[in-house]
Amino acid sequence: MRKKIVAGNWKMNTTVSEGVALAKAVAEKAAGLNNGAGIIVAPPFTHLVSVAEALKGSKVGLSAQNCADHTKGAYTGEVAVDMLVDAGCAWTILGHSERRQYYGETDEKLVEKVRLALDGGLGVILCVGENLDEREAGRHFDVVKAQTENVLFNFSAEDMKKIVIAYEPVWAIGTGKTATAEQAEEIHAYIRKVLADHFGKKVAEDMTILYGGSCKPSNAKELFAQKDIDGGLIGGASLKADDFIGIALAF
Ligand code: PGA
Repeated sequence: MRKKIVAGNWKMNTTVSEGVALAKAVAEKAAGLNNGAGIIVAPPFTHLVSVAEALKGSKVGLSAQNCADHTKGAYTGEVAVDMLVDAGCAWTILGHSERRQYYGETDEKLVEKVRLALDGGLGVILCVGENLDEREAGRHFDVVKAQTENVLFNFSAEDMKKIVIAYEPVWAIGTGKTATAEQAEEIHAYIRKVLADHFGKKVAEDMTILYGGSCKPSNAKELFAQKDIDGGLIGGASLKADDFIGIALAF
């Protein structure tokens, strides 16, 4: 059975004190969840140590939103995997479309980052997804296939156990425009097929594939009911504990 996960990507939102309060509220509500959903929050770097403290003893996991592509040294502004682990992270998001779009993150860079994250003991939530032009040109399958292959085919079947994929159509992120459950399911099933062709059926069946893009309590149920959708990577709705846990309750 693959893991069901709801992960909250806070992006560049909240002050440290707001983040700690949000984390505490999430931890409190998550304590009452008994549907097997794993809960993860990904605050900004500055919040990690304080949020880790706030989450102590809870069942909520801590993730970074990115990591450096080097282990240490003269890389101004970057944060290394060891530092994230030391701060209390068990996960990092990598390859979010905002990082690809605004910070020039390439699949090649992502291979290095995924390798460092796994070597350092972090689980990885790897984001893939097409933009609106690619969707309208009917290229969404090809784009997602290429992103998946370019990064993940550099790793072993054993490595795949520490990786979660998040399919996030860029046109649905923060736009209020959700992919329909059918649109999301067809890509999720396709990603699973791409994985099966390369790694074999077992790896593909065990892979947790999250949906992201304007997911909220009102649409999560239909999305999560799909055979190949194993949870969500949540942006806007993860900033309110009620909405975030409301999504986790949708399983
Ligand atoms: P959204 O963001 O839920 O605000 O659309 C999702 C994401 O970017 O991870």
